[in-house]
Amino acid sequence: MGEWCIGVLGGSGLYAIDALEDARWRTVDTPWGAPSDQPLTGTIAGIRFAFLPRHGRGHRAAPSQLNYRANIDALKRVGCTDLIALSAVGSLREELPPGRFVVVDQFIDNTRARPNSFFGPGLVAHASMADPVCPRLAAFAAAAAGRAGAPVTEGGTYVAIEGPQFGTRAESHMYRGWGADVIGMTAMPEAKLAREAELPYALVAMVTDYDCWRSDEAHVDVAEVMRVMHGNAGLARQTVVELARLLPPNRDPSPIDTCLDVALVTAPEARD
Ligand code: ADE
Repeated sequence: MGEWCIGVLGGSGLYAIDALEDARWRTVDTPWGAPSDQPLTGTIAGIRFAFLPRHGRGHRAAPSQLNYRANIDALKRVGCTDLIALSAVGSLREELPPGRFVVVDQFIDNTRARPNSFFGPGLVAHASMADPVCPRLAAFAAAAAGRAGAPVTEGGTYVAIEGPQFGTRAESHMYRGWGADVIGMTAMPEAKLAREAELPYALVAMVTDYDCWRSDEAHVDVAEVMRVMHGNAGLARQTVVELARLLPPNRDPSPIDTCLDVALVTAPEARD
């Protein structure tokens, strides 16, 4: 058994949590370059946390330009054991209205221009992504969001698009046909890299809009997205505080801690 250290990947307002004690911005170098910002470490209710504003303080970088490898590596280097992502998404389902928090359990990766692995060339590893989310962490996250007062749906499929433009109506209908429930621009390759770093990952998707599949919805209204996002920010901060209160003081090992032991690894000499 060990100690938790929860990495929180979220918007730039998320780390402004009054309950964070011993708060310290940490400078971390990684072989992948600079992370989006310095992680902010501290404790809440005795649990260690490291906050990384995914787009940097002040929202500087577009989803395609983020250094996802540096972000995940930096959180691993400051000692994170588990990662919670909080992300704004569009809804592809009538029953998931703006304001709802969806603790997703599957992803479809439709991004196309992002380095998505720590491996290769030289050493290739094929980690399993069949179950991309840690069920233990997801259950804690869902319970925490509920205690924070958010309307929560457990389970759902997140389709990640390249952006930065929102999708077309034809794409929105296609993603619905694929079985996706929510749409966003940041969960991939984040979830893949978390798995390769052997960090259990869960994602709380905060619905801001209905994308553009509904006939009565003109298009994604950016001002409306920002308005709902600000409303969600307080609930997101409270979700983190409730998570700290819910976690048991000691962390039992997770199978994901050692998932690469069963990954297919192709060493250079084994390839033809
Ligand atoms: N983030 C928030 N709303 C979104 C949408 N409709 N499409 C993609 N990313 C989003």
